[in-house]
Amino acid sequence: MRLDKCLTLNYGLSRKEAGTVIRKGRVSVNGSVVKDAAAKVSAEDSIVCDGDGLEVVTEERKRYFLINKPKGCVCSNDDPQNPIVLTLLEGEAGGLFCVGRLDLDTEGLLFITDDGGWAHRITSPKKSHSKTYEVWLAEDCPEENIRLFAEGVMLRGEKYATRPAVLEIMEPRHVLLTITEGRYHQVKRMFASTGNKVVGLKRIAIGDIRLDEDLQPGEYRELTAEEIAMF
Ligand code: URA
Repeated sequence: MRLDKCLTLNYGLSRKEAGTVIRKGRVSVNGSVVKDAAAKVSAEDSIVCDGDGLEVVTEERKRYFLINKPKGCVCSNDDPQNPIVLTLLEGEAGGLFCVGRLDLDTEGLLFITDDGGWAHRITSPKKSHSKTYEVWLAEDCPEENIRLFAEGVMLRGEKYATRPAVLEIMEPRHVLLTITEGRYHQVKRMFASTGNKVVGLKRIAIGDIRLDEDLQPGEYRELTAEEIAMF
């Protein structure tokens, strides 16, 4: 397998991003830095990227999970302070990573896979898959926000307004928001732009896949073939 392909499978990078990481000298194979994205590697090689050892996964082992991420655990692979989501799937095969990120204090639907191409199709800004969040707010949400979010709001420090989003007000401080982007802390920043504060956040859907109601925080299940094929 090519080295860049190996990185896409392990880290959810696109082939282009993997090429950049390799050219920057961040990857070593059997102890030597390799800057050739086309270099051939196999499961016998010891591959290290940014100090993390990788287990080389092959296409045949692709796995797809949906977890109900609990609050208080992180999506990254190295956090000395907080529990890591992936440890909740410890009994499963290696090479897994989170598809995108949820904040430490966000709970809900998160995909976990070892299929970099599939993950990329979900997170790529070009694909604009919808993501629905259940949001609890510190202040009442005015009806006016439905129009504001549908038109797009400017987030602090950004050049472009957010893409049209759908806001459903269930109760004055309990709403559903559907967005088609994944900007940094997007939901919290959208409400901050209106002077409100998110006090609770749960992702309940990505595209047509909804978080199972009977899946408790920390529990996970495999995706069905039909669900995998949706992306
Ligand atoms: N938006 C946020 O602000 N946080 C998340 O975790 C996800 C979306």
